[in-house]
Amino acid sequence: DPQNDGGSGAEETPEIHRGLAGVVTDVTQVSKVNPETNSLLYRGYPVPQLAASQPFEAVAHLLWIGELPTEQELEDAVAHERSHRDLAPQVKDALDSLPVDCHPMDSVRTAVSVLGALDPAAEDDSPEAELEKSRRLLSQLPAVVAYEQRRRRAGGPTDPIAPREDLDHAQNLLWMTFGEEAAPEVVDAFRVSMVLYAEHSFNASTFTARVITSTLADLHSAVVGAIGALKGPLHGGANEAVMNTFDEIGIRPEESADEARSRAKAWMDDALAQKKKVMGFGHRVYKNGDSRVPTMKQALDAMIEHFERPEILGLYDGLELSMEEAKDIKPNLDYPAGPTYHLMGFDTEMFTPLFIVSRITGWTAHIMEQRAANALIRPLSEYVGPEERPVP
Ligand code: ACO
Repeated sequence: DPQNDGGSGAEETPEIHRGLAGVVTDVTQVSKVNPETNSLLYRGYPVPQLAASQPFEAVAHLLWIGELPTEQELEDAVAHERSHRDLAPQVKDALDSLPVDCHPMDSVRTAVSVLGALDPAAEDDSPEAELEKSRRLLSQLPAVVAYEQRRRRAGGPTDPIAPREDLDHAQNLLWMTFGEEAAPEVVDAFRVSMVLYAEHSFNASTFTARVITSTLADLHSAVVGAIGALKGPLHGGANEAVMNTFDEIGIRPEESADEARSRAKAWMDDALAQKKKVMGFGHRVYKNGDSRVPTMKQALDAMIEHFERPEILGLYDGLELSMEEAKDIKPNLDYPAGPTYHLMGFDTEMFTPLFIVSRITGWTAHIMEQRAANALIRPLSEYVGPEERPVP
């Protein structure tokens, strides 16, 4: 009832927290972001350490269950992931019915909506059913994203590449997309990106998922809403926007790193002089640098070496340096992730869908946490429109 918004009707103006900046709205056990120490923990474990050693399937288990899996649990998780990878014919039909040039975030959002309608346990919100639905989405999403990339390349409906049970999550997604086995550096960079993108406390998309869950709506609805929130360039859409910046500056594979660096610096100086916001830099929570960047940058460096593309490093360094010098603003995870996915061969518009393939784990962990101790999320607003007046 909007008339109650803003509370008492008394003279005093309530304190307003635009963007909910600095507002703590609930407790969580899933992850801890510490801006002072630049650290991120999933269930207590430092994320760079997880990225160094853990399969993505183990990190998913950790986020959902709260502990790293035992050997047997990991074997079960891997077997489950490998046995639910097929692209459902109804999902393929839905994707094929969409324009081939629609944004792939719209395609993946539509696919999850279809998967929700098809799910036999869609309305079962018991902890067991919620976990099972989360695990299924983890294995279903790579097929959706891989097929969407292929459909775009083919210019219309095409044959999906069947998943391979002998390949892990990262290897298989790359296989289903490109039809060839990726080099170890590529597979590892992909796995690292999945671990780093998996979870980040009450970011906009996760909070959206929690708001939807708080109304007691089903898990797939919450994920569909989260995908909508992730699409924006102030959130997940930034990895795509980073690549558009590289393209605008111009990627010239014949160029040296130094030449690329000075062109990138000039571009950045000009952009900042025009007061532009440059995507891939800055963060609401980290003000001294995103804790995930060094790990992702290391994986990007290995990719640059593997593909012998030093000019990409030149562009990367040039932008980073001039942003640092001019405004002391540091890159966020989307900055190294963008060029990493580009070198793998993905279309730029596919980058944010790849974020979904990973963040599905964090979103669903939060959906289950919200469900287990629910309070309807319903803030107030201060009315500043016209005073009450009669309809003429
Ligand atoms: N480029 C240029 N200037 C910037 C940038 C940027 N990317 N980010 C912040 N600033 C400047 C702002 O202009 C502002 O300067 P001012 O005080 O002179 O006006 C100051 O830094 C503070 O910025 P705010 O936007 O107020 O900070 P906020 O906490 O609201 O913003 C946000 C965080 C939205 C991420 C912002 O840094 C941004 O828009 N970045 C680009 C988008 C992006 O990369 N998003 C990805 C987020 S991480 C992720 O999803 C994995």
